[in-house]
Amino acid sequence: MTGPPVALVGDGALVPCVGGTQRPYLSLDAAASTACLPSVHRRVDEFVPWYSSIHRGAGYKSQFATAAYEDARRAAMAFAGRAGRDDVAIICRNTTEALNHLAYRLRLAPDDVVVTTVVEHHANLLPWARVATRRYIECGADGTFSVEAVEAALDEQPHPRLLAVTGASNITGWLPPIEAIIGAAHRRGIPVALDAAQLAPHRPMPEDADFVAWSGHKMYAPFGAGVLVGPRQAFSAGDPFLAGGGAVDLVDLDEVVWTDPPDREEAGSPNVIGAVALHAAMDALGDVGWPSLVDHDRRLARLLRSGLASIPGVRLLGPSLEVETLPVAAFTVDDTPHALVAARLAAEDAIGVRHGCFCAHPYLVRLLGLPQADVVAYRDDVRRGDRSRMPGAVRASAGINTTEADVERLLAAVARIASGEEPPIEYRRDPHTGDFGPDPAAAPWNLDLGSHGSWCSPG
Ligand SMILES: Cc1ncc(COP(=O)(O)O)c(C=O)c1O
Repeated sequence: MTGPPVALVGDGALVPCVGGTQRPYLSLDAAASTACLPSVHRRVDEFVPWYSSIHRGAGYKSQFATAAYEDARRAAMAFAGRAGRDDVAIICRNTTEALNHLAYRLRLAPDDVVVTTVVEHHANLLPWARVATRRYIECGADGTFSVEAVEAALDEQPHPRLLAVTGASNITGWLPPIEAIIGAAHRRGIPVALDAAQLAPHRPMPEDADFVAWSGHKMYAPFGAGVLVGPRQAFSAGDPFLAGGGAVDLVDLDEVVWTDPPDREEAGSPNVIGAVALHAAMDALGDVGWPSLVDHDRRLARLLRSGLASIPGVRLLGPSLEVETLPVAAFTVDDTPHALVAARLAAEDAIGVRHGCFCAHPYLVRLLGLPQADVVAYRDDVRRGDRSRMPGAVRASAGINTTEADVERLLAAVARIASGEEPPIEYRRDPHTGDFGPDPAAAPWNLDLGSHGSWCSPG
């Protein structure tokens, strides 16, 4: 495989657009989920005839499938830079499940402190709230924080049990100085849990993070597998997150002897095809190599962010243009609701982006600089079932298949909307979801998804 851009399965598919036309679909939503790499698709196709029960089947296919699954586990360890360490890779559904799993397994007490940041995705905020007391690192108006701010939070008393931090923001693409942050935590004897959901497809993992979680569907393996990596000893005692078959050595009606990790942590029948797909994706990224992946990301990030920032009426959220980010950009358009911008990009230009709060409400409120009174008002509205005032932004995010021409196509479409050009058709807002949709008469193809649309509030 050569360097990016690398085409993904389904690229160039024609989708219906306003005016009865069909246009090639442009996904700029890689930060949410990516399409499948052809090599991942091929590996899954080749494996499907050999799929069988794993770990507990005596037949040849069971042995074959077990070997494929365990190979994927070893590949995940190597991908996280753990080869040769006494760590385990637990294969789960996604980053959310991995972080919930970890939060349960660390056996924290309610007054134990977990230091985390206001930049986090809900997946790295909410699991800690259930099991411990959170202490937050605040960000500035540009959505970043310094290593000194991390150190100050780590030095407060009581001494924290864990630092839970993201490797990259899913809203701004900001890359916190993760090596320095991990170093600061380790100098204080504090382990680090890294949310690598956004980092994994774009940058090598920092090898020193104690626990790492990531998802296959954000790295071109959309078959439902994710990974939690951490030291074996952290999973060697105590009850596993899920109790059931495959996690035990002995069971009697009133007794259980759990088996060793990682099997102890994977009760139930695992997602073997997801693991095979994830393995293929990690191999594919390895074949391309980090230098060309990072070079591709940097070129796209610069073009995307500087292009958006230069459009009159567009406000780019997050750090200044000099700061390195992933090719992820969140923006607002003056006088046009975020939901309408996203709906127009979809219906008029066949461009798929995300809008709303991106499952990181606290961070978005800070990036937008919302006064507290506005925050209280929209929250009251949402409690009453009206999401029309839900704040938000539009996010464009690029991946291995994105070209510079794709970014230019987005910039042209955003510039047209920001110029105040009247929409060619009418869009209507559903106050319950806060979403806009084209008038069905003008866009008969548009699927009525009801409450399952692109709305942001449940994020
Ligand atoms: C930074 C970050 N963390 C966690 C998650 C949750 O990932 P998943 O939905 O795969 O569980 C996401 C998803 O967007 C994310 O961007």
